[in-house]
Amino acid sequence: MKLEYKELTKNILEDENFLNLKNERHHGTNRYDHCKRVSYISFLLAKIFKGNVEDACISGLLHDFFQGESSYLDHPKTSRDNAKKYFHINDKEASIIETHMYHYALTKKCLPFINHDAKVNPKEFRPQYKEGYIVCFSDLLVSAFELGMFKVRYSICLYLLFIINLMRY
Ligand SMILES: [Fe+2]
Ligand SMILES: [Fe+2]
Repeated sequence: MKLEYKELTKNILEDENFLNLKNERHHGTNRYDHCKRVSYISFLLAKIFKGNVEDACISGLLHDFFQGESSYLDHPKTSRDNAKKYFHINDKEASIIETHMYHYALTKKCLPFINHDAKVNPKEFRPQYKEGYIVCFSDLLVSAFELGMFKVRYSICLYLLFIINLMRY
């Protein structure tokens, strides 16, 4: 299975524009690793739910393909444009990338006080394909895991700092 995944994604994973994502911080890790995790989970879920495995893992890989900072609501379009420019993705993959923040649009609708300056219509982010829901769910899952790990590491550093300071007395 790993071999199949490698075959589908190696052109992108070895591309120098995509490798630049290793320099971008993202959820306490780097954007390259984040995208790879989302892509692999999407690959597995597409197999389980009988979706198009290639579309799921390619759009999972390119869902956050942007440099620097971008807003929660703008980066899907930036990533889609970059993916089109560098990897000539198909229309379905473009749509999956564009709608991967559906989870955020829904959360914002239910809890409007979050980042309340930015208005959002969840309909604009509703995935058009089964693989769109798969990538959206994988992103949510991986982000929660990464942010959790980040908080754990951050807490350990704080505790260590606290202990080191205590030992000085
Ligand atoms: Fe994203
Ligand atoms: Fe993401």
